[in-house]
Amino acid sequence: MTVYKNYVGGAWIESATGNTFQNVNPAHKEEVVSEFQNSSKVDIDRAVEIAHDSFRMWKSMPAPKRGEIMFRAALILVRDKECIATQMTQEMGKPLAETRGDVQEAIDMAYYAAGEGRRMAGEVVPSELNKKWCMSKKEPIGVIGAITPWNFPIAIPSWKAFPALVAGNTMVIKPAEDTPWSVCKLAEIFHEAGLPAGVFNVVTGYGPTAGQPLLENPKVKMISFTGSTATGKIVATTCSQLMKPYSLEMGGKNGIVVMDDANIDLAVDGVVWGAFGTTGQRCTACSRVMVHENIHDEFMEKLIAKTKTLSVGDGLKDKTDMGPLINVKALNKVNLYVEEAKSRGLTPVVGGQPCLQPNEDCDGWFYEPTIFDNVDINDKLMQEEIFGPVVCVTTFENSKEAIWMLNNTGYGLSSALYTTDVNLAFDFLNEAETGMVYVNASTIGAEIQLPFGGIKGTGNGHRDAGSSMIDNCTENKSCMIDFSGTVQKAQIDH
Ligand code: UN1
Repeated sequence: MTVYKNYVGGAWIESATGNTFQNVNPAHKEEVVSEFQNSSKVDIDRAVEIAHDSFRMWKSMPAPKRGEIMFRAALILVRDKECIATQMTQEMGKPLAETRGDVQEAIDMAYYAAGEGRRMAGEVVPSELNKKWCMSKKEPIGVIGAITPWNFPIAIPSWKAFPALVAGNTMVIKPAEDTPWSVCKLAEIFHEAGLPAGVFNVVTGYGPTAGQPLLENPKVKMISFTGSTATGKIVATTCSQLMKPYSLEMGGKNGIVVMDDANIDLAVDGVVWGAFGTTGQRCTACSRVMVHENIHDEFMEKLIAKTKTLSVGDGLKDKTDMGPLINVKALNKVNLYVEEAKSRGLTPVVGGQPCLQPNEDCDGWFYEPTIFDNVDINDKLMQEEIFGPVVCVTTFENSKEAIWMLNNTGYGLSSALYTTDVNLAFDFLNEAETGMVYVNASTIGAEIQLPFGGIKGTGNGHRDAGSSMIDNCTENKSCMIDFSGTVQKAQIDH
């Protein structure tokens, strides 16, 4: 079994604590995949110091050159895609098709960010005065601290790292303790691509002991976080007290609305993929379905039938459609939500218990794909993020009611509408209170050239990816040059 060290200053070093922790395959809970450093403040502070010391050098490298390194990293990701996907399935459980997609998102981001090395446009705007130019240019912020989740072990770290690095920032990243391998692999890739030592640093460990000191270190100039709402609140309160900018991407309670003119098979497919893809462990997962009362029965019949065909098991097996939950805590949480719902009188129409007989001999944290029907829109199942394979359905009479139901949640990440009515589709794009809106496609599957993020309880307005990704990790510096050779005063003497 490989013991991974922290990647700091271009070298692999042990934690000062001398302690390690193990990563277990969630599909075979006896199988330890790798071992990682259980780091503390001392390790974080050392990594931040090195990232800080490397900042001037990295910032002064021309951006197109930085972009070339990102491009080389993209090529290595392409070369190693299959090996990364396989290891990632063992590390966090989702099927190979999905871990390949995860690596592909990293590749897409790497190419997209590499191109930014030759763009990163500022502005030239008119001046009030003669012979004066007014410009703005993008400047890196400094050391960016990133805390990343386990459900997209290489995609989300890449969404954060590639834009930050191409813009000239240095980084210290603390990956989720359930999936440090993918981020260690990303460090190996940057190393091979020729990224100078100290620019990208990985420190593994747990939130309170490694994440918290990263938030608090004064040389970390910004925090970029994706993860649970509970941890996001800690990030927000800690950073606010320190007046440190932070970007938050947290939970979701994403709904799909199915109108009575929809292609029902298409909608069923979208719900199954959105609800059970990644075992429901996406912040964009569909966990609520609002279906028009006229088509409810046909829709449910098809939804139940399709859900029953899903094969649950080890993501490395071709036949597997849905893998395990990430760990026993997640399994218990899902189970608790379902058992509580049962005690409120709700009965699952499919699933509703841990999956004790996955498709092949494996012993992991499996749960059955679960559907509840006729759930009140204000029920806990409709309002709280479960982060597991549980979806609940309700009916509506008209589109106005459907949109009200859709927006009746504290979260605002993703939403979808299935309809053939073009007017309604555009109306929905306007009315859905979510950062991402789909028509005739599921709530999951965002592409990196569009902004990714949400409103309301989902985030604080920042977006990963998309055209604003460079703005989110740079300062916009105003630069003015007066070449008149005379005394001119803007806003006073003209
Ligand atoms: C997440 O759920 O945390 O939109 C990220 C999607 C993916 C990314 C999801 N491309 O489903």
